[in-house]
Amino acid sequence: MGPQARTCHLLFLLLHAVTKPGELVENSDFHLAGDYLLGGLFSLHANVKSISHLSYLQVPKCKEYDMKVLGYNLMQAMRFAVEEINNCSALLPGVLLGYEMVDVCYHSNNVQPGLYFLAQDDDFLPILQDYSHYMPHVVAVIGPDNSESAITVSNLLSHFLIPQITYSAISDKLRDKKRFPAMLRTVPSATHHIEAMVQLMLHFHWNWIVVLASNDDYGRENGQLLSQRLVNTGDICIAFQEVLPIPEPSQGMRPEEQSQLDSILDKLHRTTARVVVVFSPELALRNFFLEVLRWNFTGLVWIASESWAIDPVLHNLTELRHTGTFLGITIQRVSIPGFSEFRVRHTKVEHPVANKTNPRATCNQECDACLNITESFNNILMLSGERVVYSVYSAVYAVAHALHRFLSCNQIRCTKETVNPWKLLRELRQVNFTLLGNQLFFDQNGDMPMILDIIQWQWDLSQNPFQSIASYSPTHQRMSFIANVSWHTPNNTIPMSMCSKSCQPGQSKKPVGLNPCCFECMDCPPGTYLNRSADEFNCLPCPASTWSHKNGITCFKRRQAFLEWHEASTIMVAILAALGFFSTLAVLLIFWRHFQTPMVRSAGGPMCFLMLVPLLLAFGMVPVYVGPPTVFTCLCRQAFFTICFSICLACITVRSFQIVCVFKIARRLPRAYGFWVRYRGPYVFVVFITAIKAVLVAANMLTTTINPIGRTDPDDPNIMILSCHPNYRNGLLLNTSMDLLLSVAGFSFAYMGKELPTNYNEAKFITLSMTFSFTSSTSLCTFMSIYDGVLVTVMDLLVTVLNFLAISLGYFGPKCYMILFYPERNTPAYFNSMIQGYTMRKN
Ligand SMILES: *[C@@H]1O[C@H](CO)[C@@H](O)[C@H](O)[C@H]1NC(C)=O
Ligand SMILES: *[C@@H]1O[C@H](CO)[C@@H](O)[C@H](O)[C@H]1NC(C)=O
Ligand SMILES: *[C@@H]1O[C@H](CO)[C@@H](O)[C@H](O)[C@H]1NC(C)=O
Ligand SMILES: *[C@@H]1O[C@H](CO)[C@@H](O)[C@H](O)[C@H]1NC(C)=O
Ligand SMILES: *[C@@H]1O[C@H](CO)[C@@H](O)[C@H](O)[C@H]1NC(C)=O
Ligand SMILES: *[C@@H]1O[C@H](CO)[C@@H](O)[C@H](O)[C@H]1NC(C)=O
Ligand SMILES: *[C@@H]1O[C@H](CO)[C@@H](O)[C@H](O)[C@H]1NC(C)=O
Ligand SMILES: *[C@@H]1O[C@H](CO)[C@@H](O)[C@H](O)[C@H]1NC(C)=O
Ligand SMILES: *[C@@H]1O[C@H](CO)[C@@H](O)[C@H](O)[C@H]1NC(C)=O
Repeated sequence: MGPQARTCHLLFLLLHAVTKPGELVENSDFHLAGDYLLGGLFSLHANVKSISHLSYLQVPKCKEYDMKVLGYNLMQAMRFAVEEINNCSALLPGVLLGYEMVDVCYHSNNVQPGLYFLAQDDDFLPILQDYSHYMPHVVAVIGPDNSESAITVSNLLSHFLIPQITYSAISDKLRDKKRFPAMLRTVPSATHHIEAMVQLMLHFHWNWIVVLASNDDYGRENGQLLSQRLVNTGDICIAFQEVLPIPEPSQGMRPEEQSQLDSILDKLHRTTARVVVVFSPELALRNFFLEVLRWNFTGLVWIASESWAIDPVLHNLTELRHTGTFLGITIQRVSIPGFSEFRVRHTKVEHPVANKTNPRATCNQECDACLNITESFNNILMLSGERVVYSVYSAVYAVAHALHRFLSCNQIRCTKETVNPWKLLRELRQVNFTLLGNQLFFDQNGDMPMILDIIQWQWDLSQNPFQSIASYSPTHQRMSFIANVSWHTPNNTIPMSMCSKSCQPGQSKKPVGLNPCCFECMDCPPGTYLNRSADEFNCLPCPASTWSHKNGITCFKRRQAFLEWHEASTIMVAILAALGFFSTLAVLLIFWRHFQTPMVRSAGGPMCFLMLVPLLLAFGMVPVYVGPPTVFTCLCRQAFFTICFSICLACITVRSFQIVCVFKIARRLPRAYGFWVRYRGPYVFVVFITAIKAVLVAANMLTTTINPIGRTDPDDPNIMILSCHPNYRNGLLLNTSMDLLLSVAGFSFAYMGKELPTNYNEAKFITLSMTFSFTSSTSLCTFMSIYDGVLVTVMDLLVTVLNFLAISLGYFGPKCYMILFYPERNTPAYFNSMIQGYTMRKN
């Protein structure tokens, strides 16, 4: 047996087992005779738990269960729509729509009404190979209300492709048109409800929520959808998720359910989350909220799923207002003129409809208390307006429009063909009509893009108890807020529901536990910054040459420190340098003027100029120490001055050597002396020394760098000290050791010539100058090793200038003095006499 055949067999058995004609009530709310019948499935009662019994084969009796107040309201909406369509001549002229309604009591009584609709008028469901021409009792079915029943009924009806339009079953499963080919609905799917909820929470910055879901398909499915949606984005975290017990129909809570509720409420009492999302059929919630009242909660925000968002019975627990704010997701409000009166209209005794089809009846087509109870809630129903009612209303109109197309109706008449439901289904998918200002059609998934509303519960008797505060459009997936929420908090502040308060700018998050919403805020230390869009959890170090304060969100450029002209120390050193420059220039001029005099010749003759020119250049180059360092100035600082200094030292050394040793060499090693003179030994020596020095300096530069670098001021990180590479001072030791060798040589020659006449004797000067030079160099090195600021540059400059001054003034100064003020001593005769005196003393 194939599945199709098996189903038929089952149907046949069931049909004969359960169908039993009830008493015929001509003018019941549940029937209307007509040319074409619509089936209507509503929950007037509800057995949320749906206990199935196995001991007897009887259709459940819905009236034994709790009343579901809104069910009758929806049923009336269908009756109203059909009556309106019949009254209005334009849509289906000359055609009467009829209906058959059955109470499905939530999901206890689905199969029997399904079979009832499928069977022919004589309650017979034939076993056929081909049902293409089969005419069931109804052409389309409206309902039922919840997804579980809708799926059950659809499993029956879809075999016959009977169009089924549900008005409040939101399950995403129903989108699957392979499984439910004949299922359409006038309500957005659960995904949109969840999305609206999430956008609501995001709008109010709630990211720490509690989810309570009933222990049935509705609760489980939607709870899971919500947690999946939240996991995907990660903006909102669930503090805890609990399952609400569903009580037995018409009974109090059992002890284990009581303790389960108690533990949930205890958890709710202790959590810091203030927002509670509740997915549950409304009948399971009355006990829950009575418990909530017992626990004296305050300041919570309840978010109601569509199942209970506009339930007047729960709303009548007016004490709930003290527990906090109630928000809910539901269908938009569309007012249907005339419906309020119709809702509580008592059916007239006489039936105006011609008996075109045999009226029949089945069980569960009664609700004696419905009208009276609906009347008792009439005030709140009237104030709250039509929401889900509009879904039912538009479902009926969709069928009417499909019939209109199928029967090729014009203004006056329709062709009254037989309507095969599967053909009607094709028309139904195509309908596109305007109803009370809304453009209605079914999308690919068979859903009507109805707008969702976020509502707030209000207990002010004159107002709409379910005030819209925002609306959500499924097509655009966007929320727009239309009114302010009144929060019932001091100063009407928006309640906070966050695991951790959001961090201040510049504070990084340190996760606590596994939830991304729970964290500690850590200050970013100076020198680091936080870029929220890139990484909320780590402070990033500032790039070089920038800095940040504590809790920085950006790095700023550090103030650059270098030697500047307007500083006192610079001015002082500049004055010294200028003094050196001009005195050296003066010496140069004087020596030039008196070039042929013995004083100049004894001081080195042309070699004096070899010393004076570098000296002059060195003084002239002092400005390279001032201003931000560049490659050029660093090159000068690291190479030029030291080479100048070495040239001077070399000249002095070679000059001392000449004075003291030349005669001895000439006497003892005449050949060597010949070479020395012929090849201009002094100059070769100076060039040689300079070359060695240049190689040393170049090697030093290659190992370090001549690019200026920036370092953090140890005292103030906001300041960056720009300087040449400080490592060149390590090379300074090498430099210095060579200078030291030179000066030791110069000093020994000078010492050897200490008995020479004073005008040849330089020992005192060289000792002084060299001692100064080395003490200053070593103290500079020491200073640099302990201090790092701009002062180092000043010291460097000062030492350089003083060294050159020592040579310039110390060496040349006395000679100039003699040349200018004792010209009588600057004669060959005087020099000869001095030398003669010296030679005589020696002998
Ligand atoms: C339909 O017409 C009847 C008679 O005119 C009227 O009493 C009834 O209110 C109308 N029903 C609707 C839903 O308009
Ligand atoms: C709620 O408040 C009432 C009266 O103020 C008090 O008797 C009761 O113990 C409170 N219930 C809880 C659970 O705190
Ligand atoms: C239809 O109703 C009329 C009275 O309104 C009655 O006389 C007639 O017998 C009925 N026809 C059938 C087939 O029941
Ligand atoms: C409905 O209310 C009316 C009076 O308001 C009463 O006479 C009638 O018995 C009630 N019906 C039921 C089923 O309770
Ligand atoms: C609302 O609740 C009050 C008691 O809390 C009750 O008296 C009243 O009848 C209820 N309203 C309806 C319409 O049931
Ligand atoms: C429905 O009809 C309106 C205008 O009559 C049109 O703009 C809209 O695109 C139609 N929608 C669909 C889904 O066909
Ligand atoms: C909400 O209230 C603020 C000030 O309280 C007001 O500026 C704003 O227009 C209100 N928004 C709506 C939608 O009423
Ligand atoms: C309410 O607002 C007033 C004035 O704006 C302020 O002084 C008071 O502290 C606020 N109360 C609360 C609970 O925020
Ligand atoms: C922060 O990070 C984003 C993305 O990586 C980047 O576009 C932006 O420029 C950064 N902002 C700052 C101040 O670094």
